[in-house]
Amino acid sequence: MKILVTGGTGYIGSHTVVELLAAGYEAVIVDNLCNSKADVLNRIERIAGHRPDFIQADVRDRAAMRDLFKAHRFDAVIHFAGLKAVGEAEAQPLRYYDNNVTGSLVLFETMMDAGVKTVVFSSSATVYGEPASNPIREDFPLAPANTYGRTKLMIEDMLRDLHRSDSDWRIGLLRYFNPVGAHDSGLIGEDPNGVPNNLMPYIAQVAAGRLPQLTVYGGDYATPDGTGVRDYIHVMDLALGHLAVLRHLACTPGLATVNLGTGQGHSVLEMVHAFERASGRAIPYQIAERRPGDIAAYYADPGLAERLLGWKAARGIAEMCADTWKWQMNQHSDY
Ligand code: NAD
Ligand code: WQD
Repeated sequence: MKILVTGGTGYIGSHTVVELLAAGYEAVIVDNLCNSKADVLNRIERIAGHRPDFIQADVRDRAAMRDLFKAHRFDAVIHFAGLKAVGEAEAQPLRYYDNNVTGSLVLFETMMDAGVKTVVFSSSATVYGEPASNPIREDFPLAPANTYGRTKLMIEDMLRDLHRSDSDWRIGLLRYFNPVGAHDSGLIGEDPNGVPNNLMPYIAQVAAGRLPQLTVYGGDYATPDGTGVRDYIHVMDLALGHLAVLRHLACTPGLATVNLGTGQGHSVLEMVHAFERASGRAIPYQIAERRPGDIAAYYADPGLAERLLGWKAARGIAEMCADTWKWQMNQHSDY
């Protein structure tokens, strides 16, 4: 089975490619390297023992996409390529709509022309917006509260409409909760540009002494310790979720919409303390104002993923923190 992985040199994509190769799939990566580096290919090769094919191109580039689908006969596409910074999307909405929505449109059109009708799409729990209750089930209302989330919802809508128009399509809409962690080799992980926006890379950089302290956004939420609660999921579990949905779609036509989370909510301070235990370092922090747009708590009902795909997250926050720390400590050393 040959799989095209868009955005495959990125954080989640690179971990998924490692698992695809380990399971015997052939993987071809297309990425424009706007948020990743080609060096990831060397690291994937070191872990997996062979190197995925790589084409540097933008998924919005019709000619390049057409050539790619002419050069290969793909069985399925996993579509990670997209921009994901929530704050940046508010400042540059048209860039986000163009990259995420137009990029997906060009990809799906190229797939249709090539007769490749199996796609797995990286959606996000952000499509739910503020949930009326937790845990969140896939049939909850979709009401994203920001531009980034609306780009994800538009792409989901595009795929739902496409499936209604042609039932030959086999589509997996995967709604990720909060992906964290790294491959346990310490060779690949999340490498944000500049000061991280997300909690886990921020904590890791504080532990490493690259940032002085963590700002905890809000200590007065209606949660057990007053700090925000999220469903953190290890990126390797997430990667395996993609293999599970590929296997499902191979024998079950249709459109599957599935949450990928653990079902466990953890607070900011729980994550801080887990990271202190994993790293043996103190994480100084200061509680500050809430971050605008943040939700107090959200976590998945992961039951459908288990029933439909036979997939369940296996790794807890101790492993998420230990693997993030290993990656953090490796980043500035010569591997
Ligand atoms: P990432 O930025 O590490 O990876 C995305 C990759 O896509 C990068 O390598 C980037 O260079 C590439 N890319 C972006 N636009 C492209 C384009 N037009 N053409 C070709 N390549 C392009 O992000 P990630 O964390 O690995 O996220 C992967 C996907 O999962 C994204 O679609 C993201 O929105 C989604 N997602 C991420 C999270 C998260 O918290 N990390 C949560 C939910 C959903
Ligand atoms: C987690 C918790 C913060 C940083 C985002 C996107 C979402 C999805 C995943 C792509 C919250 C708190 C954070 C800090 C803090 N991405 N925090 N200090 O906001 O749940 O989700 O990433 O699809 O769409 O919105 O993740 O890691 O930013 O925050 O206290 O310096 O950590 O307030 O409670 P979030 P996060």
